[in-house]
Amino acid sequence: MKTKVKKIILIVLISACIIALIPLIYFAIPKNTKKAASQDGKLILGFSQIGSESAWRTRNTQSIFEAAEQNDIQIIFDDAQQKQENQLKAIRSFIVYQVDVIAFVPIVSDGWDNVLQEAKAAKIPVIVVDRQINCDESLYSGFLGENGFDEGFAAATFLVNKCRNRNSKINIVEFSGTENSSIATLRAEGFRSVINQYEKFEIIHSEDGDFLRSRGKEMMERIINANNGTKLNGKPIDVIYSHNDSMTLGLLDALHYHNINPSNMIIISIDAEQKSIDALVNGELNCVVECNPNSGPVLMDLVKKIAAGESIPRETYMSDQIFTETDDFSQYTPRGY
Ligand code: AHR
Repeated sequence: MKTKVKKIILIVLISACIIALIPLIYFAIPKNTKKAASQDGKLILGFSQIGSESAWRTRNTQSIFEAAEQNDIQIIFDDAQQKQENQLKAIRSFIVYQVDVIAFVPIVSDGWDNVLQEAKAAKIPVIVVDRQINCDESLYSGFLGENGFDEGFAAATFLVNKCRNRNSKINIVEFSGTENSSIATLRAEGFRSVINQYEKFEIIHSEDGDFLRSRGKEMMERIINANNGTKLNGKPIDVIYSHNDSMTLGLLDALHYHNINPSNMIIISIDAEQKSIDALVNGELNCVVECNPNSGPVLMDLVKKIAAGESIPRETYMSDQIFTETDDFSQYTPRGY
């Protein structure tokens, strides 16, 4: 009987000890909500890039990789091959991996709310790069990129000054960037905000060329073939406003193929890749508005600030310059892309 009582007391004591230890064991076990860290303790940035549709885009990706290396930040990179669905998958994989910060270049403006809610729920801060999005501002920490409205505004301001002594009608064809992308919308709005103040300017045609050289060539070819030259519905094309250099180089390819001298028109482009600066120097373009792709160093500063718990500005803009046909290029530094 005595040994039976002893046994019961022992069992009760052991059970009490186990119950007392449960909270300690619970807090000692790492939770699956703990952030993944790189093997060497570096910050991890999940970065979703649109693709490599232009030399500008390739330089932008390089700039981000170079700056990450200089700042000892590890990048988990995804190339979305021009598809939003790939970007959504990539961002979700960054969330599963529990990176420290997510940065992405949104190919189009809409459709990001759900995935950004998921990032917010996982407490992973997000930086929107290069293009802007339409969604609740509380879903991302900030935007870093160019001011598309100002770029369009600068392109139109050049045109207005160049045509200040012309009183006849001036017909403009616009080769627009990717439909529903913020950058195409803003470049169009900035341009119109200036030319709409003058009756003589008219946009007689605007078409989406998806920022691609092949599309720029194809659109120009179609116009030339259907109108037997640089005309549209009987109206001469006086100006081409192209939202990026890739499309501009494509339209120049078509003009060269048909032995049409580009200097018969005013051609304005955006980006300032080396090839378009060369075309400007050769008199084939009249104005190139820079879109600065070297956002890597600024992005890494923002990543480090966010990771340290600091807030970042809602919007950070890269500075751009404007190159025109009257510039002196004798002292100019090659672009490198
Ligand atoms: O979003 C920036 C634009 O995208 C650049 O002007 C263009 O070259 C790129 O494809």
